[in-house]
Amino acid sequence: MSKKKIFFYDAKPYDKDFFNKANEKFGYDIQYFAGHLNPDTARLAKGSDVVCAFVNDAVNADVISVFKENNIGMIALRSAGYNNVDLRAAYGNIHVARVPAYSPYAVAEHAAALMLTLNRKTHRAYYRTRDGNFSINGFLGFDMYKKTIGVVGIGKIGKCFIDIALGFGMKVIAYDKLRDESYADKKGFKYVELNELYACADIISLHCPLSPETHHLINEESIKRMKEGVMIINTGRGKLIKTEALIAGLKSGVIGSAGLDVYEEESEYFFEDFSNAVIGDDVLARLLTFPNVLVTSHQGFFTKEALANIADTTLDNIKEYFDGGFLKNEICYKCEKECLKVKDKRCF
Ligand code: NAI
Repeated sequence: MSKKKIFFYDAKPYDKDFFNKANEKFGYDIQYFAGHLNPDTARLAKGSDVVCAFVNDAVNADVISVFKENNIGMIALRSAGYNNVDLRAAYGNIHVARVPAYSPYAVAEHAAALMLTLNRKTHRAYYRTRDGNFSINGFLGFDMYKKTIGVVGIGKIGKCFIDIALGFGMKVIAYDKLRDESYADKKGFKYVELNELYACADIISLHCPLSPETHHLINEESIKRMKEGVMIINTGRGKLIKTEALIAGLKSGVIGSAGLDVYEEESEYFFEDFSNAVIGDDVLARLLTFPNVLVTSHQGFFTKEALANIADTTLDNIKEYFDGGFLKNEICYKCEKECLKVKDKRCF
C-alpha cells in the first residue's frame, strides 16, 4: 500500500526535526515546503491527501477551493489559534483540525519573560555591558510585588500566566467573557469588567483569541482609559492591538512599555530573516525604534516540549482522519456556535 502523503507548508528546520521524529511512529510521506500557503502554492499540494499549515498561512476560500479540486480532504493546523482559516468556506468541503493545547506554560512563560525584561531593561543591559558600559542610568524598574496585573482571556495560557503573576505577589484582576468564579476564588484573583481592568492595571497581558469581538480590543478609546505608564504584553494575536493607537500611546507616555510577540501585519516578516533587507512596513519599523518596546517574532510557543507535543498531536489528528472516525480536534463553522463534538461524530 502506498504511503499517505502530507504536504507541509511554511516548513522550518526545527519543524522538520520534530515532525520527522514524531513520524517514526506513523510512517507518512511528508513533503516539506518552505513557502507560505496562498492560492498559487495551494496547487503544489496536488497528489497529497492532507496539508499541514501554520499561523501565517492564509487558509481562505480560494485556497480551500484549490484543495477541494485536488481531493485534499484535511487541513491539519499545527497551531492552537485558527483565526487564519475561513471556517465557513471549509465547512462541508474539507476537515480542519488544530492542536488545542501543546504547552500553555511555553506561552505564559514567554509573556512573563517580556514583562520582566521590559521592567528591568535586561535587553538593553546585555548590550551595554558587552560594550564595556557599566552605567545603570535609565534602567530603573519597579517591584512587581503588589502591582496590579490585568489579564484578558483566562483560558489555558491565561491561567498559567496568572499562576506566575501570583507567584510574584502581584494582585491579579481578570477579564473573560465567561467567568469561572470558583476557580478565581480558589486561586485568589478577581474578575472585573474591561473598563475597571484598564483603569486599575499597571500591566495588561492579552491571552484571548482573535475574533470579531476582540479585533483591535486595544485601540484609542481603551488606551484613554488606562493608567499612565501601563505596560502592555501581547502574546495572543497581533490584531488584538491597533498598532497605530499603541504607537500614539507610547509617544504620549500613556503606555509606558510594550512587549509584543505578535504583530498585526506579522505574516510577511515573522519567522523570516530580513537582516539584509529594508523593512518596508513603516509601522513595524517605528515600533522597533522605541527603547521601551520589545518585539519578539511569535516565539511564545517555541520550546522543546511544545514542539514535540505539536508534532505528536498534529500527526494523531491526521491518523484519526485517515481512520475515518471521530476527529476530536476538528474545528468547524458549526462547532464555533454550537459544538457538535458532544455527539462524538464527525462534523460533516
Ligand atoms: P483558550 O481557548 O484555552 O482560552 C481562551 C480564553 O479567552 C477563554 O477563556 C475564552 O473564554 C476567552 N475569550 C474568548 N473570547 C473572549 C473575549 N471576547 N474577551 C475576553 N476573553 C475571551 O486558549 P489558549 O490556549 O489559552 O490560547 C489563547 C490564545 O493565545 C490563542 O487563541 C492564540 O491566539 C494565542 N497563542 C499564542 C501563541 C504564541 O506563540 N504567541 C501560541 C499559542 C496560542
